[in-house]
Amino acid sequence: MAGLLSLPTTFGFVAVRADEPCGFVLASLAGGESEILSIAVVPARRGSGIGTVLLAAAVETARAAGADRMFLEVAADDPAALALYRAGGFAPAGRRANYYGSGVDALLMSRRLEA
Ligand SMILES: CC(C)(COP(=O)(O)OP(=O)(O)OC[C@H]1O[C@@H](n2cnc3c(N)ncnc32)[C@H](O)[C@@H]1OP(=O)(O)O)[C@@H](O)C(=O)NCCC(=O)NCCS
Repeated sequence: MAGLLSLPTTFGFVAVRADEPCGFVLASLAGGESEILSIAVVPARRGSGIGTVLLAAAVETARAAGADRMFLEVAADDPAALALYRAGGFAPAGRRANYYGSGVDALLMSRRLEA
C-alpha cells in the first residue's frame, strides 16, 4: 500500500463514518486511462452505500484529471463487487481464466468517463 501510494500515478480515498475509517479505494491514472487497484469496506459497514460513494469518488477524480476510460478486475464469483461495479456503469470487457486459482476467473470490466 505504501509503495503504491508513493507513486505519482496512484490516488485514493478513505471513507470515515462515526470518526472511524471504514473503507478505501485505490486507483491509478496514466496515459489517459484509469484503473481501480483495490476497494474494500469493513464488514460491519457493507451494504450501506459506502462502496458506491468510494467508487464514484474514484470515477469523478479520474474524469476530472482527463481520463476517458476506467478499468478493473474482479473475481467472477464475487456477487457484491459485481453488483457494485455494474451499478457504477462498468460492463464486462474480457475474462482471464483461472486468474485467482481454484477455477476462479477474473472478469475485466470497463466504463467510459464522459467529459
Ligand atoms: C465490494 C464492496 C467494496 C462493496 O461495498 P459496499 O459498501 O458493501 O457496497 P454498497 O453498499 O455501496 O453496494 C453497492 C451495490 O452492491 C450490492 N451489494 C452489496 N453487497 C452485496 C452482496 N453481498 N450481494 C449482492 N449484492 C450486494 C448493493 O445492493 C448495491 O447494488 P445496488 O446499487 O444495485 O443496490 C464490499 O462488499 C467489500 O469490501 N468486499 C470485500 C472486498 C472486495 O471484494 N473488494 C472488491 C475486489 S474487486
